Amino acid sequence: MAESKLVIEGGHPLQGEIRIQGAKNSVLPLLSAVVLCDEDVVLERCPALSDVYAASRILTHLGCRCSFRDGKMEIRNGGISRSEIPEAMMHEMRSSITFLGPLLSRTGSCTLYLPGGCELGPRPIDMHLHALRQMGAEIHETHGMLRLQGRLRGADLHLPFPSVGATENIMLAAVLAQGRTRIHNAAREPEIRDLAEFLAACGAKISGAGTDTVIIDGVERLHGCVYRVMPDRIAAATYLSAAAAAGGSVCIQDCCPEDLTAVTEVLRQMGCRVYCHESRIYLQSSLPLHAAPYIRTMPHPGFPTDAQALLMAAHCKARGSCMFEETIFDSRYRHVDDLIRMGADIRLSGRAAVVHGVQKLSGTTVHATDLRGGAAMLIAGLTAEGVTELTELSHLDRGYEDPEGVLRSLGAKIERIT
Ligand code: UD1
Repeated sequence: MAESKLVIEGGHPLQGEIRIQGAKNSVLPLLSAVVLCDEDVVLERCPALSDVYAASRILTHLGCRCSFRDGKMEIRNGGISRSEIPEAMMHEMRSSITFLGPLLSRTGSCTLYLPGGCELGPRPIDMHLHALRQMGAEIHETHGMLRLQGRLRGADLHLPFPSVGATENIMLAAVLAQGRTRIHNAAREPEIRDLAEFLAACGAKISGAGTDTVIIDGVERLHGCVYRVMPDRIAAATYLSAAAAAGGSVCIQDCCPEDLTAVTEVLRQMGCRVYCHESRIYLQSSLPLHAAPYIRTMPHPGFPTDAQALLMAAHCKARGSCMFEETIFDSRYRHVDDLIRMGADIRLSGRAAVVHGVQKLSGTTVHATDLRGGAAMLIAGLTAEGVTELTELSHLDRGYEDPEGVLRSLGAKIERIT
């Protein structure tokens, strides 16, 4: 298939209102959770993303029937008929690893593969496996293949780091396990709360999600439910950063301002006016922006690593200097080279990156190095002189539903060309 690209004409301010898609990082574990249910599940506000299609192909392979229309994913769940996920399906999507806990718990024995090479540096799953072992799983790992078996029982688990994926996998393994599981030092990301609310709607007993201790009491079975996926806070951060960088005023509807406090705080430091009211965020940006002094990525409620590239792009033309420190992933500055090619002044040293604001960026051909790196290029393109062509869109399409349509509705000049 011919490679698509986005062609962006920079220099147009953004103006208007948009609604935010459902959260990619929430819907994926919810789709894994369907493995645990005895009945049909309907997910509303399900975003149309390539990762969502990949997860629904896994569910179809396991015996479910999935249909997706108008933002609604209906999963007919006649029972799980397979306990293995082929390597190619596991490789299609990195978060396929959240099928590990629920598939083992449901089938008592399963075979999966490591999700494979990764764009953000090594993403080990040692915490996931260690926790499952403590819950009674026997795990054999050979050449990237994982064979798991055992009847799971509740356990007291201490995570060395509040990993989002490990917290989700343990919750998913624990809801049908025998007895009580406590996860200490659990991730507190809003997506953990959304997963707990979904599981509770299916009959699970969970408390503490959103705090650092999650407690799960195993139940016999989970039924189905109709559930509305939470709004995507990183998509909201993306369009807010785009409007900040391009100038203008936007209203983001249907989002959760409390989940975005760390990001809106930085946008305020940069000189934007930001008002939050119920499920809306209004942002007004008069250029030039001013650099925030220091942005350090941290587990929630700290500044999200997923928004680091977005705010870096928004800083390229801000007055002054901003120092970024990436503490979550080892290799999350791959967007920097292309920002420099557009004229940005960025110095990298290990986990730190210092952005000195420049007068202008110039459009050129850049590529999406990873999902958020691609979104950063989109933002830079909106602020650059001339035309920016963004290639390797498969990364962007994993996490953004029709980004060009959303930006066009705000007045951006952007086209997708195949
Ligand atoms: C999730 C999000 C991702 C986000 C990240 C951090 C999804 C689908 N992805 O990724 O967008 O950037 O949270 O907020 O929800 N680690 C280990 N061993 C493990 C597990 C993790 O060393 O067993 C390390 C990772 O390599 C990384 C750090 O812990 O350096 C954080 O990873 P984690 O919180 O697990 O992120 P993901 O769940 O992969």
